[in-house]
Amino acid sequence: MRNFGVRNVTRRAVLGGLAALPALAARSLAAPVLPPSRAFLRLPPSITAASQVLNVSEFEALAREALPPAHFGYLATGVDDDQTLARNHDAFSHYEIRAHRFVDVSRLDMSCSVFGVDWPSPIYLSAIGGMRAFHPEAEIGVARAAASRSVQVMLSSASSISMESIRDARGAPLWQQLYATDDWAVAEGVVRRAEHAGCTAIALTVDNRAGRNNETLMRAMRIDSRTCTECHANNSHEVWRKANYAGLDVARVTAHTPLDITPAYLDRLRARVAGKLIIKGIVTGEDAALAVEHGADGIVVSNHGGRDEETLRATIDCLPEVAAAVRGRVPVLLDGGVRRGTDVFKALALGATAVGIGRPQVWGLAAFGQSGVEAVIDILNRELAQIMRQAGTPTIASITREFVTASTWR
Ligand code: FNR
Repeated sequence: MRNFGVRNVTRRAVLGGLAALPALAARSLAAPVLPPSRAFLRLPPSITAASQVLNVSEFEALAREALPPAHFGYLATGVDDDQTLARNHDAFSHYEIRAHRFVDVSRLDMSCSVFGVDWPSPIYLSAIGGMRAFHPEAEIGVARAAASRSVQVMLSSASSISMESIRDARGAPLWQQLYATDDWAVAEGVVRRAEHAGCTAIALTVDNRAGRNNETLMRAMRIDSRTCTECHANNSHEVWRKANYAGLDVARVTAHTPLDITPAYLDRLRARVAGKLIIKGIVTGEDAALAVEHGADGIVVSNHGGRDEETLRATIDCLPEVAAAVRGRVPVLLDGGVRRGTDVFKALALGATAVGIGRPQVWGLAAFGQSGVEAVIDILNRELAQIMRQAGTPTIASITREFVTASTWR
């Protein structure tokens, strides 16, 4: 697929190219075979700078405009009927905020501390693979945006650019997400490289086992007949052919996630990882307790943005049981469907230490490169500040369980 370089080609010109795909335009508005994601149902407003965008969801429409169908399909897809994907966000409406009025909120402090590091707000960027598919700046644009806003980056091991380059662009240690593969020597190789690159945490993804049914992606690919020889080396989508695995012997690898991640596997990895070990993809209290007992320093409540299995359980609904099982022993992070400052607030109230932003960072990147990612971070922080003032919670620590209640509108 040709590099649709936004530096040389205006966004409108890219859109003009997409308009030449009438099948996409006509069917995305009407045809019920397309996914329930709102991104496919709404046309974007006329916007030419990131600063004009009102909210994170508007970036989704802009990203759909800017991207080739297959690339947007890769970003948007869930599995089966995309219901878990949709519920990740919708379930935030299961919770209502109990605002307290008689609190001094004239001074707001949104800072928090994760693994002893001070963050300006409880938001980090979740791992997203292959960002060159979304904008020529790719992971570098995201890292620069994160640097300008002092946001922690969890880098995908399937990143299209090497972890060392992204660390340099971020100018601070990364958390390295790990697709361990089914070859331990390869997992060790990536860990060794990440530690050498100064990463302070390894985040083992445990939810993405081989064989998922991304029907929305497949539908998008049907209407995008280009051959991806430039984006994918040898037209391969295999994670272990990407930059962070370069130099490792991947001849024996058959899957990016082992099928035998048992507690014994966690023990083995724990012994190998010198820094923090985060387990990403936990959705039950039992698994969270096991992970902590086997050495996890942090848990990410995640279902991979609804991309793995159609459980119909939103991560925000999984969070309370995980937080209860962890009992404050390690930070509990959450990602999935966070699109508003109020979503962040509810996650914190239900026990999260911080939240990860997945697709929205890419919507910003696809629409405007670095400035789009910065705008996404700014919008979420602004909205969080607003609800903190409104709810009467001047600090992150003051956002507790009593500030949310189960909705009576279910
Ligand atoms: C992901 N996610 C992901 N997770 C991971 O551990 N390693 C990875 O390489 C990727 N890659 C990836 C690509 C794309 C296009 C998406 C949308 C997601 C999952 C990601 O880290 C996170 O869990 C979800 O994206 C969170 O949900 P939201 O915010 O996208 O709703």
